[in-house]
Amino acid sequence: MRVLLGVTGGIAAYKVALVLRRLTEDGHAVRVIPTAASLNFVGRSTWEALSGASAPTETFEDVPSVQHVRLGQRADIVLVAPATADFLASMARGEARDLLGNALLATSAPVVVAPAMHTEMWLNAATQANVTTLRERGVHVIEPAVGRLTGADSGPGRLPDPEDIVSGLYAVAKATGVVPRDDAASSIPGTAPLSTARDDEGQDDAGWGDLEGVRLVVSAGGTREPLDAVRFLGNRSSGHQGFAIAEAARERGADVTVVAAHVALPLGEGIRRVEVSSTADLGAAMREEAERADVVVMAAAVADFRPREVADHKIKKSGDGVLALELVPTEDVLAGLVQGRRDGQVIVGFAAETGDAGASVAEHGAAKARRKGADLMCVNEVGEAKGFGDRPNAVVMLDSDGHVVGEAAGTKLAVAHGVLDQVARLLHQV
Ligand code: CTP
Repeated sequence: MRVLLGVTGGIAAYKVALVLRRLTEDGHAVRVIPTAASLNFVGRSTWEALSGASAPTETFEDVPSVQHVRLGQRADIVLVAPATADFLASMARGEARDLLGNALLATSAPVVVAPAMHTEMWLNAATQANVTTLRERGVHVIEPAVGRLTGADSGPGRLPDPEDIVSGLYAVAKATGVVPRDDAASSIPGTAPLSTARDDEGQDDAGWGDLEGVRLVVSAGGTREPLDAVRFLGNRSSGHQGFAIAEAARERGADVTVVAAHVALPLGEGIRRVEVSSTADLGAAMREEAERADVVVMAAAVADFRPREVADHKIKKSGDGVLALELVPTEDVLAGLVQGRRDGQVIVGFAAETGDAGASVAEHGAAKARRKGADLMCVNEVGEAKGFGDRPNAVVMLDSDGHVVGEAAGTKLAVAHGVLDQVARLLHQV
């Protein structure tokens, strides 16, 4: 399940790192929103390293991806631990003073809070009134434990042990139907192991928002090189794979631009679309977009040649009816992007291969990966019945040395998520 974990500013925040670790070990996808005050106790890097995703604090950190709505809307369950007295008061008032406050107002998922504070603060009438208000609104409260507090004092107010918080959360998940109540085999940790969490549509818990704040540009479709006033040289690329990457990246929180060459497909909301036709157009658009992109994906089928001359009229049949065309190479857009790569930018290429007498699909792919130098080369076999259109696809992913780093198969959306898993890994490496 997708767990949104809010961490507020109490010393017990350190215990919540273990809660996070346990949740991810159990196969859940967790996004952490620490409040600014909580960063005094546990730094952002801890949350990012343990969750494998960015851990934003402020509402305005990444406005284009509307995180406050997305994180709240997409969560299956929300846990706030530790929840300070101040946070409970702010939540009871329905305040949206930071990203966590916003996310809580935007979510319709069950919300669990684990308060932690000094005994006097916990027993204070104001805190108790806030807790009652929250309970009345359906918020689940994990009662603080009794025991030693920060100083020498002791009493109710202590954050329960990580194991108890996790089981409290799982109990709410079962009781509210987030996971099937009678699914004994799962006993929650096993709602689904990460590796199988993705269904046919490519819906993926693992990739939940792991590209939040990342700017991604993807080229899609097939370029056309004009021959005369009415004809062109083109290819059969439908743009499905590039569009699937755009949709999957958006789903995972990226700010996405598609450079589309002759694609007759719609794009989901919130994705920017730039239309191009020839290789030269596509190259110019990609160079411009790459200047501000963190991830560049070349999924378009780019024409390797263009007619040397373009007739401004329709070419007529003449003589023996044979037409000799002189073709000259177009620019290699991907190679140019690799050459101009910014620090930390991840560049992905696709290699459509058919295999021939000289080398297999894999050998051609490895040679191309080394030649092009992209961080990730996704090799797929194409032919009459393979690779084109909205058909299942399979890619082998190679690094710039031609070594296999991953594979993905299934619908184009599932393949897109497989490719983005590798992209997320590369982004987190740098
Ligand atoms: N590509 C590109 N510019 C070109 C040709 C290809 O940017 N002029 C990109 C494609 O978008 C893809 C990758 O390079 O990401 C590999 O494309 P592919 O057609 O498989 O390879 P080619 O470079 O054309 O090599 P070959 O013709 O030898 O197969």
